[in-house]
Amino acid sequence: MVCKWRLKSGGGILTVIAIYIALAVSMSELKNRKRSNDRIVTRETRPSRQASYTPVREIVSGGRFRFRCPIASTGILWWLYDSNNRRQLLATGSTAIDRGVEVTRGSGESTLTVHRVELKYDGLYNCTSTGGISFSMRLVVLDPVKIREYSDDLTVRRWDPSIIWCNATGNPEPEIAWYKRIPDGRGIEDLNMKGPSLNLTQTTIQCVGTYVCKATNTIHGTTKMAQESIRISVLYKPIVIVDRLGSSRKYSVRLMCTVLANPNATGVWTIETTSNHRYDRPEPIYFSSGMPNDGERITKSELGFTEHLIHTANCTCSATNRFGTTQAYIYLESD
Ligand SMILES: *[C@@H]1O[C@H](CO)[C@@H](O)[C@H](O)[C@H]1NC(C)=O
Ligand SMILES: *[C@@H]1O[C@H](CO)[C@@H](O)[C@H](O)[C@H]1NC(C)=O
Ligand SMILES: *[C@@H]1O[C@H](CO)[C@@H](O)[C@H](O)[C@H]1NC(C)=O
Ligand SMILES: *[C@@H]1O[C@H](CO)[C@@H](O)[C@H](O)[C@H]1NC(C)=O
Ligand SMILES: *[C@@H]1O[C@H](CO)[C@@H](O)[C@H](O)[C@H]1NC(C)=O
Repeated sequence: MVCKWRLKSGGGILTVIAIYIALAVSMSELKNRKRSNDRIVTRETRPSRQASYTPVREIVSGGRFRFRCPIASTGILWWLYDSNNRRQLLATGSTAIDRGVEVTRGSGESTLTVHRVELKYDGLYNCTSTGGISFSMRLVVLDPVKIREYSDDLTVRRWDPSIIWCNATGNPEPEIAWYKRIPDGRGIEDLNMKGPSLNLTQTTIQCVGTYVCKATNTIHGTTKMAQESIRISVLYKPIVIVDRLGSSRKYSVRLMCTVLANPNATGVWTIETTSNHRYDRPEPIYFSSGMPNDGERITKSELGFTEHLIHTANCTCSATNRFGTTQAYIYLESD
């Protein structure tokens, strides 16, 4: 069984995943379309008396932006309409209101300089003179992806839902994809899930592991990437399996008890035998189980004895942690 990502409404798991992926794809398409529409609408409906078109500049964050305004008057108001179309006063005359900008005056023009461009400076710039003459310029800030915040490592009870998330910023809008580390450094597995959060409707033992969110965006043809790791641990009552193994030279009966538990469990073999020999009341054999690492490491305890000494043997392996005790047994009878 694998760790499954399901929507609560049930139905075929694969279908649900397919529908979810289809939905996610069409949603992001819609978003992209909306974004490009926004940009066009912005340019066409912004009031502009002087300039019939708005020059556009693209600057990678950290770079310098200059907006030359062909007005020499001291009574200039410098505005920024941000990406949400909120108007913000950056400077009046040559007095900067925003700490990140500087205004200089030359002959016949004034210049607004943003020395270190950040995402918040993305938008439409506008200088307006007291006489009502105005000019504008559009700045597109290209910002390589960054992961601002991400969820803490998570420990949940088995079968409970879990949600992990990554919050990325950047322009163009980053895309987030989820991966899971394959234990023992054997690479990562693509979970084919996109979006800021990964929801596990039921956290199974197979869900234990380290998840990686990779956020990417592309700037001037170069893909930028940021990633973070989040660990999911699962707590559960021990799972116990007893198997009979092939015989060895020393023992005709070899049993293997396999325990999975988190937190660590204490295990014990108890053997109930009927026989005429001395070997009729073996002592219990205690062992302790290790915490499964990435859901794969388990504890095994082997029990071996010589069958001809017994008539019947009921061999029980039980393991206990704070969530309870689980046992499994094999009943042996010699002919
Ligand atoms: C600049 O902003 C002013 C005030 O909001 C507005 O009246 C003017 O039309 C704008 N100019 C341009 C070129 O966008
Ligand atoms: C992600 O970041 C955005 C912008 O900083 C914030 O509005 C949002 O609440 C954050 N989401 C989470 C889940 O932290
Ligand atoms: C994941 O869970 C969050 C929080 O409950 C929710 O906002 C989001 O829509 C869920 N995503 C999916 C794919 O179910
Ligand atoms: C659980 O067992 C493992 C392996 O024996 C050990 O490394 C780990 O420290 C143990 N954890 C606790 C909480 O006892
Ligand atoms: C073997 O022992 C277990 C408990 O340790 C018990 O539940 C089971 O009934 C026993 N089986 C037989 C055949 O006696």
